[in-house]
Amino acid sequence: MHSIIAKIVFLLSLISFAEASADAKLEARQQTVTPTMDQRCIEYDWTANMSTIGANSSYRSVLMRKSNVGTIYNARMMDAAIKQLPAMTADQELNRACGNFTERALVQAANNFSEGIVGQFSTAGLAEGIYAGPSVIFIVGAISILFSVVWVFSG
Ligand SMILES: *[C@@H]1O[C@H](CO)[C@@H](O)[C@H](O)[C@H]1NC(C)=O
Ligand SMILES: *[C@@H]1O[C@H](CO)[C@@H](O)[C@H](O)[C@H]1NC(C)=O
Ligand SMILES: *[C@@H]1O[C@H](CO)[C@@H](O)[C@H](O)[C@H]1NC(C)=O
Ligand SMILES: *[C@@H]1O[C@H](CO)[C@@H](O)[C@H](O)[C@H]1NC(C)=O
Repeated sequence: MHSIIAKIVFLLSLISFAEASADAKLEARQQTVTPTMDQRCIEYDWTANMSTIGANSSYRSVLMRKSNVGTIYNARMMDAAIKQLPAMTADQELNRACGNFTERALVQAANNFSEGIVGQFSTAGLAEGIYAGPSVIFIVGAISILFSVVWVFSG
């Protein structure tokens, strides 16, 4: 019994660890030199969307509350996008090759929001004042890690 719970808890902490390494890989990828124009467009696409969502408090709070990956992770991701976007917006070559994704993101985020969509999430079921979802998952995850550490080191 004890060991089954320990295994489950240990697995949960592995999942969190995998998430953290995916994050680290993303950061590493962003530092690689001379990406192709295609790669730069994909990066611009994503950065424009994330920055637009992150910079508008209405969009941002929906994404934070709807996404499952944890509030701290999302905040870091959006803040990084906000920092990177201005240089991309001003890059004439990039905007000619990909299209002005900054402009598209601003228009499309507003359209999406008016239809109840932010990023890939629907705003349905988000009643003001009800506190559930991402933060709860995050807290449960943190507790799981704590317990697994205790189990591993005491067992
Ligand atoms: C960014 O937003 C545009 C417009 O809504 C959409 O077509 C595109 O797929 C989005 N890109 C990403 C990476 O989410
Ligand atoms: C792309 O659109 C943004 C927002 O409308 C604008 O500020 C920027 O100057 C445009 N970039 C280029 C290179 O035209
Ligand atoms: C955020 O988005 C909403 C809905 O599209 C818009 O009404 C509001 O002006 C935006 N806020 C800012 C600070 O851009
Ligand atoms: C708009 O919504 C679509 C899904 O309906 C999504 O793929 C896209 O990323 C959203 N665009 C922005 C800028 O949030």
